[in-house]
Amino acid sequence: MNEHTPSIRPAQRDAILEAARLIRAGALVAFPTETVYGLGGDATDDRAVAAIFAAKDRPRFNPLIVHLADVAAARALVRFDERAERLAQAFWPGPLSLVLPRRPDCPVSLLASAGLPSLAVRVPDHPVALALLRATARPVAAPSANVANRLSPTTAAHVAEGMGSRVAMILDGGSCRVGVESTVLDLCGPKPAILRLGGVTAERLAPLVGPLGELSLADEGEVRASPGMSARHYAPRRPLRLEAREARTGEALLAFGPEVPSGPWAAVVNLSPDGDLVEAAANLFAMLHALDHPEYAAIAVAPIPEVGLGRAINDRLRRAAAS
Ligand code: TXA
Ligand code: MG
Repeated sequence: MNEHTPSIRPAQRDAILEAARLIRAGALVAFPTETVYGLGGDATDDRAVAAIFAAKDRPRFNPLIVHLADVAAARALVRFDERAERLAQAFWPGPLSLVLPRRPDCPVSLLASAGLPSLAVRVPDHPVALALLRATARPVAAPSANVANRLSPTTAAHVAEGMGSRVAMILDGGSCRVGVESTVLDLCGPKPAILRLGGVTAERLAPLVGPLGELSLADEGEVRASPGMSARHYAPRRPLRLEAREARTGEALLAFGPEVPSGPWAAVVNLSPDGDLVEAAANLFAMLHALDHPEYAAIAVAPIPEVGLGRAINDRLRRAAAS
C-alpha cells in the first residue's frame, strides 16, 4: 500500500471549494452523499473517469452514476421523458438514479457510460454533495468510494481505510443517512426496469411509472450481472481482432504503447503511445467509435497487458469481439 496520509477535511466551505478546484483540475475527491460516500471525478474528463476505475481496482468497466446539482443540469445530458420528469419531481434530490438515453451532444466521457448509449444521473440529497456540485459546476461521476468487492463506505474513516492513498481529498460530512446505494431505474425501454434495489423502494416507484420490468439482480449488488453483455451495449460493427501482431488487408489498428506492429494498416490510432493504461482506458471507447467505419475491413487491436486497468480494457474488448 502506498502510505500517504489521506487528507480528511471537515466539510466546511473552504474545504468544499478546494475539493471543487481539485475535481476541475482532474483529481479525485471522496465526498458524502445521503446513501454512501462517492469517489468523485469530472465526468467530462476521460482521464479523470479512467482514474476512478483505476482507483477502484475494478476488473471491468461498469457504467458510473453522474451526479448533478439539479434537474436542469441532468436534462442537459440525457433525454428526459414524462416518466423521468415525474420521478425527478417526486424523488430528487434523493437516492434514485435514472438511466436515460444520452443526448447526442452529451459532454460526459463515453467511459462513464462504459460505451453504452445511456447514462445514469442523480441529484443527491446531501448538503455537502450539493454544495460541491454547485461549486464544481460540472457533472461529477461517482461510484461508491470503496475498492471493488469491499463494503460500501458510510463514513470518511471507511473511505480512508479502503482508498485513502488513492484520492486527493476526503470531505468528511459525517455518517451517511441512508447507508445503502441509490435505486437504479432504467428508463430507456418502454417498460421501466429496476437494475439495482436501493434507497427508493419499488413500491414507491410503481404508482408513478406503472408496472416495472423484471428485476435483474446480479453479483455483489452491482446489478445487471454484465452490462457488458446486454444487447444495448455498444460493440463496434466492424469485426474486432485481438492480440494482433501483424497487419491483414484493410484493417485499422488500435495500437498500444511505443511498439506498433508493422503495417501496412488502413489506419492507426494509439490508445497510449507511452503504454500508460489509464490513458488507454480514457481513450478506449472514443477510439473504438472512431475506427468503427465501413472503410475498414476490421479493427485489429495490439496486445494489451493483463494488469491493472489492462484487465478491464481486455475484458471490454473480449466482450466486444465475441458479440
Ligand atoms: O448511491 C449511489 O448510487 C452511490 C453514491 C456515491 O451516489 N453511487 C454508486 O455508484 O453506487 P456505483 O458506480 O457504485 O454504482 C452504479 C450502478 C451500477 O450497478 C451500474 O451497473 C449502474 O449503476 N449503472 C450506471 N449507469 C448505467 C447505465 N448506463 N446502464 C445500466 N446500469 C447503469
Ligand atoms: Mg458500488
